[in-house]
Amino acid sequence: MSAEPYVPARARLPGLRKAVQSCAGCALHRDATQAVFGSGSESARLVLVGEQPGDQEDRKGQPFSGPAGGLLDRALERAGIDRDDAYVTNATKHFKFSRQRGKRRIHQKPNRSEVAACWPWLAAELRVVDPDLVVCLGATAAQTLLGTTFRLTRSRGRLVDLPESALAGHRHGPARALATIHPSAVLRADDSETELEGLVNDLRVAAEALAPTPG
Ligand code: URA
Repeated sequence: MSAEPYVPARARLPGLRKAVQSCAGCALHRDATQAVFGSGSESARLVLVGEQPGDQEDRKGQPFSGPAGGLLDRALERAGIDRDDAYVTNATKHFKFSRQRGKRRIHQKPNRSEVAACWPWLAAELRVVDPDLVVCLGATAAQTLLGTTFRLTRSRGRLVDLPESALAGHRHGPARALATIHPSAVLRADDSETELEGLVNDLRVAAEALAPTPG
């Protein structure tokens, strides 16, 4: 189970975006409306990685275009980051869900083998965009990029080196990463204002890391 055979070697973003629609590297493509590839500029210095497209993203074909995306936009704005300057994507490209009483689609977390199967797409996006900083939104993205022993509760909001394994050797220089809470977790939290504040604070660390050093 892997997306590898479907990922065109040396393709740029338009080629990858087209090819992902034919991906059958795991079972998730069967029930999803479409694959939801990343969105943003190939020259972005910042990549934001979520978990998987949600219900609305699955219908619209755009990452973070539903309620979690609205919250992410607010948090980015408060942290002084322009979403248009970032490349936004997910660890997996198809919506995984179960049906409640045959109708409503309920988000299901992708399992480890589905995330691993989808990794070649994220690796290709990182190869092409070649960012300076990757912000992992939530534990799924953090463990995909920083290793399965990474614990968000212990290490969120801290700048770390992005491991070589996440870069496929295509770097012009060292890249860093930072993990923070997922916007959906903020929406679900009892005290969502406090959680939003925490997300904004972590994103401010990212904004500072990308700011030009004076002098
Ligand atoms: N949650 C995610 O992780 N990604 C999206 O694109 C939407 C919701």
